[in-house]
Amino acid sequence: MTGHKKSIVYQIWPRSFCDSNGDGIGDLNGIRSKLDHLQNLGVDLLWLSPVYASPDTDYGYDISDYYAIHPDFGTMADFDALLSEAEAHGIGLVMDLVANHTSDQHAWFQAALQDKSSKYRDYYIFRPGKDGKAPNNWMSFFGGSAWQKDEKSGEYYLTTFTPHQCDLNWENDDLRKDVYDMMRFWLDKGVKGFRMDVINTIKKPADFPDKDPEKKGLQFPGELICDLEGVHDFLKEMHREVLEPYACFTVGEGAMTGQASVIRYTKPENKELEMMFQFDLALLGCGELGKFDFRKFYRWSISDFKRTIDAWQRAMQEDGGWVGNYLSNHDQPRQVSRFGDDKRFRRESAKALGLLNLTLRGTPFIYQGEEIGMTNCRLGESEWKDYEAINTYSLLQSMMHLPKIIARRVIQNMTRDNARTPVQWNAEKNAGFTAGTPWLKVNPNYMEVNLAAESRPGGVADFYKKAVALRKAHDVLTYGTYAPVDFENKRVVAYTRADETETLLIAINLTGKAAAARLPEAEGTCLLGTHGAREYAASLRLAPFEGAVFKLR
Ligand code: NOJ
Repeated sequence: MTGHKKSIVYQIWPRSFCDSNGDGIGDLNGIRSKLDHLQNLGVDLLWLSPVYASPDTDYGYDISDYYAIHPDFGTMADFDALLSEAEAHGIGLVMDLVANHTSDQHAWFQAALQDKSSKYRDYYIFRPGKDGKAPNNWMSFFGGSAWQKDEKSGEYYLTTFTPHQCDLNWENDDLRKDVYDMMRFWLDKGVKGFRMDVINTIKKPADFPDKDPEKKGLQFPGELICDLEGVHDFLKEMHREVLEPYACFTVGEGAMTGQASVIRYTKPENKELEMMFQFDLALLGCGELGKFDFRKFYRWSISDFKRTIDAWQRAMQEDGGWVGNYLSNHDQPRQVSRFGDDKRFRRESAKALGLLNLTLRGTPFIYQGEEIGMTNCRLGESEWKDYEAINTYSLLQSMMHLPKIIARRVIQNMTRDNARTPVQWNAEKNAGFTAGTPWLKVNPNYMEVNLAAESRPGGVADFYKKAVALRKAHDVLTYGTYAPVDFENKRVVAYTRADETETLLIAINLTGKAAAARLPEAEGTCLLGTHGAREYAASLRLAPFEGAVFKLR
């Protein structure tokens, strides 16, 4: 098999990974100092969330120069040193390609603002207003209007995320060529590929229609901007121009994308992307407006969780698509707090969820800190840093009329800041993250939850290492057929992964209560267990959050 499907991908959110110079902000040299840990874990590819120059209204996802390293993170020389040392550790770097928008500080946008006749004006989406208001009723992903007024010309420009992230106009040939050149710049340096930020929204509808015009107020455009037919044309062109010649690794992030679209993006013969993420698990129990939409009270059952996984596993294998599996990232709460138990069974549930992620069909992504079972950190209002949290907090109160105390609760559970507290390396000051003052609070549980402690036998990191090694030793875990087992079980998720050489059975209790699973009558040898080796039995009792992998004979 070719490509990167078999890779173990580890995501770094650089600001919070490791600080080498005491300014309280993680940096490239900090990452370099931790390559041994990543190699030990078995990581093949390191996806760096944006490290480019940025004014940080969206912490790096608002890029002001695609060719420069953010001074908080170091220099281009530091980047080159990281690249070559990572390579010496057998690890390839993956860049974040944020090409749906740039910062309003980017030179292209500044030129576009200054001079209406500049060629860069058409790199963005400027439109005249309607009846003295924005061109349409679209709401941005982060709340508020998706349009900003350019006072000088009186026109409006599109910003589908923060008001400082200006959407690029992919219809413009020169813009696309500039993006491809920039991608080649990083590939020529030796990076292995790209994670593509909201890549399914780069095509916009020609006429920018109102969304649900009969409704009052701003409306989220949803399907008007996600997965339009033309995205596939752009990706095919990018594939021809850049991805194929460099045999690139690619994973697409697609807002609200569904199975049929992911299959189209990732079927090898379509020559677009290698894999995509799905959002259905992340959005379990949320209302239709996404993770801050509390109207379903975030209620979900293990059966819902299983059904979601099962549907994606089957759809991909039946129709030739490929997903990147993940349970958390820099945009989501910590997986143990969201899907496990971050109190009584923190360690057990961290292992159980890790085992799930590392035994499903697809390519596993590990987010920094998952391998030590990091949890959400109950940050107070004054400690929040993220635009999304701060803006949504006020919208929940003003638009949804939520009492402050409930709005605060919603934000505390779902804010991206949960995933962005510094990585906890040891039990020393600031969890070993920085010698200075950390830019975002360190989770006070670091005395107990840290890499040094979790690397001991029985710790979460110790288990992750074994689970990664198991995946690497058994190709069936990457490519083998997935089939659910005991699907009606309300506590245990179980499935087989099979190919012509072997059949593995995985059973994981996803609850804090003991549970029994009904497995096939067979002989089995335990290859790995969260609670140590287990005897195989067709009627298998599992302790809370216990999981095991068996090889069936
Ligand atoms: C998705 C990224 O993961 C998120 O962090 C960012 O805010 C938006 N795209 C906008 O770039």
